[in-house]
Amino acid sequence: MKHDHQGDGVDQGRRGMSRRTLLGSGGVALGLALAAPGAASGSGLADGVRASGERQAGVARPRVPQPHLLLAVFEIVGDPSPLLAALGSRILDAAAGDHPALGGLDPGDLTVTVGVGPRLVAMNHPGSIGSEALPPFPREEIDDLHRDGDLVLQICATDPLLPALVLALLTGSQPQLRERWRQRGMRGGAVPVRRGHAAARNLLGFVDGVAVPTSPEELDDSVWIDDGPAAGGTLMVVRRIEIDVARFGALSVPAQEAVIGRRRASGAPLSGGGRAADVDLQAKTADGRYRIPVDAHVRRAHPRPAGVPLMLRRSYSMDDPLGLLFISMQRELSTFSRTLERMSESDALLSFTRTTASGSFLVLPGFDKARSLGSTLFGSGRR
Ligand code: HEM
Repeated sequence: MKHDHQGDGVDQGRRGMSRRTLLGSGGVALGLALAAPGAASGSGLADGVRASGERQAGVARPRVPQPHLLLAVFEIVGDPSPLLAALGSRILDAAAGDHPALGGLDPGDLTVTVGVGPRLVAMNHPGSIGSEALPPFPREEIDDLHRDGDLVLQICATDPLLPALVLALLTGSQPQLRERWRQRGMRGGAVPVRRGHAAARNLLGFVDGVAVPTSPEELDDSVWIDDGPAAGGTLMVVRRIEIDVARFGALSVPAQEAVIGRRRASGAPLSGGGRAADVDLQAKTADGRYRIPVDAHVRRAHPRPAGVPLMLRRSYSMDDPLGLLFISMQRELSTFSRTLERMSESDALLSFTRTTASGSFLVLPGFDKARSLGSTLFGSGRR
């Protein structure tokens, strides 16, 4: 089996579902070559982010998401194939630093990830993966403009100037595109979790992005679609979640930790062990209480009781509105929806949140000069 996850490799202390023991010596060598996970801003460059390949960038590479993000959702008017082909070639130019609108700025670790919405997929491939929209969930306050959409562009970079500039150069003079909404996001300094993997603190002060798939085997198990015209793609879920940070911050630290199920300072699970330890849902205190409270976020969101694989979360904090731009990648939509159903029953964290935008998108397979963006689903776009 081929893998193009650059920098995948040594991965210790992950949950039992992984098959990390299968890693060959090649993977180990790559892992050792990785930058230290604490070096957030350098991590993308160390990973050598490529725009082209079997899989798009911005999902599993770079391993540690870059500090700045701009995400935008559009409607597409007319035939998507020429538009996607043109977008793909502009992305290749931007990532190579070749586009005049970059003003000579170094693209560095820039990544652009393109996904298409359920309406477009259903029109061309009814009933296939990516054609299904998310159902409504409790605690949503989402108008029509902020629900679903035909196209998502996720643009990430270490240089804070790049995302808005790149969005403008990708979408300029494209009469087929109507922007619906956009959201800026940022990540705090990298908090090392395991070799080759780092998370970041969110606006609640908690380390976020700890329990995620990282090895090639884990990513194959739960993230990458492996057959059909969408092979090499994945499903992205985006949720703009506003958080009442003042009300959460007014709780005592132990009360905050009970809401999340991990220690605030260290990120360690309340069930014991270090930051990288798996959450143990069975662990009990001497007087018989669960160490991870019944309504703690990590219990309600845990994949095992939901019967789903572990999703890849690569969320960003938001400054306006204050909250979390939740972004997850998974090969099946039910991984997300079953998890949120279980959370909606009793997750203590949800009472501090309201969701004001939402969408699911099929992240297209990778592309290059010979295979244009979207061609396996919508045709080559050449006339
Ligand atoms: C305001 C919104 C949210 C915040 C602040 C938040 C924060 C966190 C934190 C701090 C952790 C523990 C550290 C980690 O493993 O990353 C966590 C874990 C997790 N969260 Fe969230 N989260 C939010 C919303 C969501 C949503 C909407 C979902 C999916 C429906 C979700 C799914 C998960 C999963 C699957 C885990 C890992 C559980 C485990 O296996 O240990 N979270 N989240």
